[in-house]
Amino acid sequence: MELQKIYNEDCLFTMSKMPNDFVDFIITSPPYDDLRNYNGYKFEFEKIAKELFRILKTGGVLIWVVGDKTEDGSETGTSFKQALYFKEIGFNLHDTMIYYKNNPMPTTGNRYHQHFEYMFAFSKNTPKTFNPIKEETKYKGLANMKNRGENGNLDYKKVERTSEKKLGNVFFYSIGGGISTKDKIAYQHPAIFPEQLVYDQIITWTNEFDLVYDPFMGSGTTAKVAILSNRQWIGSEISKEYVVLAEQRLKENFSHNLFQNGFI
Ligand SMILES: C[S@@+](CC[C@H](N)C(=O)[O-])C[C@H]1O[C@@H](n2cnc3c(N)ncnc32)[C@H](O)[C@@H]1O
Repeated sequence: MELQKIYNEDCLFTMSKMPNDFVDFIITSPPYDDLRNYNGYKFEFEKIAKELFRILKTGGVLIWVVGDKTEDGSETGTSFKQALYFKEIGFNLHDTMIYYKNNPMPTTGNRYHQHFEYMFAFSKNTPKTFNPIKEETKYKGLANMKNRGENGNLDYKKVERTSEKKLGNVFFYSIGGGISTKDKIAYQHPAIFPEQLVYDQIITWTNEFDLVYDPFMGSGTTAKVAILSNRQWIGSEISKEYVVLAEQRLKENFSHNLFQNGFI
């Protein structure tokens, strides 16, 4: 199967050509509920979920970024239903992460502004790779650490705090024109990922040269970030218009060095 390529077809068809245990990592945002009508393309969630499980390597991770529509006064809960279905077919719900938008579109009405989407991290068995992103700890120097001595009594000793700790599972991003990406062309697609989000997830769950798949490639964000982080990639996108857009975006970014590193 040709890698470094966006297949202009239903992702079910692309996956039907992949052997079992083929990709190391999947990151995607499906066309959820019917919030946007992508030219009426249908989305067969259950079939797709099973195929994603089949083609993912043992130890691989799937990042599924979704939110819910509000319908007749209630959130649909589709994201939860999907998460439970993924569990039912064998995925491990490894971590329910949050994609927090610092600057979401303001909403009216009797609800707080919608600030987040889920970033469900599903794994096929235990994740084989975890390179946690770290941040500096706030407090430095010595800390009191409780310790039970040989005689069973609690004593306190001073230990040096580590200067770094892994992040919490809420990831914060500013979004919108010029922020999600600097690529003007990408905004012709209505629902792009912030590039930083894809980068953070890719480097957490994969190593260099691993194979990343995005079944709903849209404007090509996953492909672009995979290239920048030296991962191999493959994508599906049903709309011809978006495939043309994504290919143009990649061309604009990588006209010079892509051929050199052999990724396209
Ligand atoms: C939420 S968007 C993804 C946007 C992408 N994350 C980005 O950064 O540009 C979902 C995409 O899935 C595509 N799509 C819908 N049904 C599909 C299917 N069955 N197979 C492949 N792509 C599909 C839509 O055309 C749309 O571009």
